[in-house]
Amino acid sequence: VNYGVLGTGTVGQTLSAKLDELGHDVMIGTRDVEQTLARTGPDRLGNPPFSAWHEQHPGVKPGSFAETAAHGEIVINATNGQATLSVLEAAGADNLNGKILIDVANPLVFSQGKMTLSVCNDDSLAEQIQRAHPKARVVKTLNTMTARVMVNPAMLAEDHVVFVSGNDAEAKASVTALLKDGFGWKSVVDLGDITTARGVEMFLPLWVQLMGVMGTPLFNLKIVQR
Ligand SMILES: NC(=O)c1ccc[n+]([C@@H]2O[C@H](COP(=O)([O-])OP(=O)(O)OC[C@H]3O[C@@H](n4cnc5c(N)ncnc54)[C@H](OP(=O)(O)O)[C@@H]3O)[C@@H](O)[C@H]2O)c1
Repeated sequence: VNYGVLGTGTVGQTLSAKLDELGHDVMIGTRDVEQTLARTGPDRLGNPPFSAWHEQHPGVKPGSFAETAAHGEIVINATNGQATLSVLEAAGADNLNGKILIDVANPLVFSQGKMTLSVCNDDSLAEQIQRAHPKARVVKTLNTMTARVMVNPAMLAEDHVVFVSGNDAEAKASVTALLKDGFGWKSVVDLGDITTARGVEMFLPLWVQLMGVMGTPLFNLKIVQR
């Protein structure tokens, strides 16, 4: 399958590398390919520059957001949540129409040492995306855990869950197959339509607090019932 991964951060890199390893044809999207490849210093989180990652993953082609969306039969949004709507506009509605659009972004705002959500309660980033691109088949998933766990759930000691939200049952079934057969997830919980993305996005304040308390991002949720 041809994948178009919008976003060159940790999540875009991690998902692209895994999809490449699985034998898919992957393009990774950025604002300006030359500028992104020319960055030499570590990013603001101290990660090595994109070029160092790209040298290790030469099979993943960098492209503009529009080229990447056009390349993808399935498109993944792994961009900063505050930039997502403008990135998808730059990607071009025609390059998204009819396609599965996997949204892993979170609408986080960091200011003066505090984290807030730019959309919540009766709306979500995933719904904003679906409204802006009514012909795209948006599936929210994987936003509730750190990137390494997304593609390697077996690294945690016990079974744990990933959620899917979306209006298109067929799209959710395809994404669930990728999560299970591709990434190795055992428990995929279908929460319902795209409005259920509100809950998984509003989980992030708790996730950030848990990371502080646990001292590691390598944890996830397990749902226990009677
Ligand atoms: N990090 C995690 O483990 C994790 C886990 C779950 C969910 N998420 C969510 O996944 C998304 C990606 O996270 P990340 O940590 O990989 O990277 P990130 O730093 O949040 O986003 C990087 C991407 O956003 C683009 N971007 C940033 N500002 C932009 C702007 N003003 N206009 C256009 N594009 C812009 C960058 O473009 P360039 O390529 O041009 O620089 C880059 O491709 C976020 O929404 C995050 O909340 C992250």
